[in-house]
Amino acid sequence: MDLGVAGRKAIVCASSRGLGYACAKALAQAGCEVVINGRNEAQLAAAAAELKKTTGGKVVPVTADVALAKGQKALFAACPEPDILVNNNAGPPPRDFRQLTREQMIDGVVGNMIVAVELIQKVIGPMTERKFGRIVNITSGSVKMPLAGLDLSSGARAGLTAFLAGVARTVADKNVTINNILPGAFDTDRLSSVLTNAAKQKNITKEEAAAQRAATIPARRFGKPDEFGAACAFLCSAHAGYITGQNLLIDGGTFSGAF
Ligand SMILES: NC(=O)c1ccc[n+]([C@@H]2O[C@H](COP(=O)([O-])OP(=O)(O)OC[C@H]3O[C@@H](n4cnc5c(N)ncnc54)[C@H](OP(=O)(O)O)[C@@H]3O)[C@@H](O)[C@H]2O)c1
Repeated sequence: MDLGVAGRKAIVCASSRGLGYACAKALAQAGCEVVINGRNEAQLAAAAAELKKTTGGKVVPVTADVALAKGQKALFAACPEPDILVNNNAGPPPRDFRQLTREQMIDGVVGNMIVAVELIQKVIGPMTERKFGRIVNITSGSVKMPLAGLDLSSGARAGLTAFLAGVARTVADKNVTINNILPGAFDTDRLSSVLTNAAKQKNITKEEAAAQRAATIPARRFGKPDEFGAACAFLCSAHAGYITGQNLLIDGGTFSGAF
């Protein structure tokens, strides 16, 4: 399917690896000019080179911490008026909620809620004027199905979801959409470190920990980042203008509910 976004400009935050990278790849394949981002310069440069090689698209790497004002400034310097914004950032490390300090909680809310809102504040005006805008936020399946130890992540992302549910309705008539994609278990570096920790805790091999986790998923496997990227690119496409304020759970059937 032609997604109808060739030549559109996209900023994909936190995209040198994993789900962000997959979104950038799918958008570049659809013909978008893509700004990719991460803090590790060498890793980001390698990701940009790979994307250029595999998609033939225009890819601009911006080494920056998306959670900082100067990082956000650097992203907009590279792409002042994006048509597409994919919000992504690392989540806070797992921790028993009793042990969270005030500072850690504020950092978590900043990283997984406030940063996305700040970026949206900057892009929404020009998007509504141009009558085209696609905003996708990578949140987490934990918004619908909280996991103990990831309470800060779940809470901050649920806050973002509720915040944007209202905002999305105020710009829908300008062909600007705001949607969230909620990943379940996807095969990325982050999942790999989660499995390494699980293996240590249970005194089993990482392969055994992976098999145990996959067995809890109705699809009996982890998601492939490219599957996630394709869904993101569709939500950013010209065809998705009537889909807004939605939460797309991609988890191989893990969340067991009819709605
Ligand atoms: N994979 C899953 O199964 C899963 C499930 C539920 C939720 N999620 C959530 O989905 C998001 C993406 O996960 P992932 O699995 O793709 O993670 P990942 O494989 O660890 O990749 C994270 C990417 O974000 C970049 N990054 C992290 N912090 C950044 C910052 N402050 N500024 C700019 N770039 C930053 C990293 O590059 P640098 O380190 O170089 O900055 C890297 O490119 C996370 O919020 C995660 O919690 C993932």
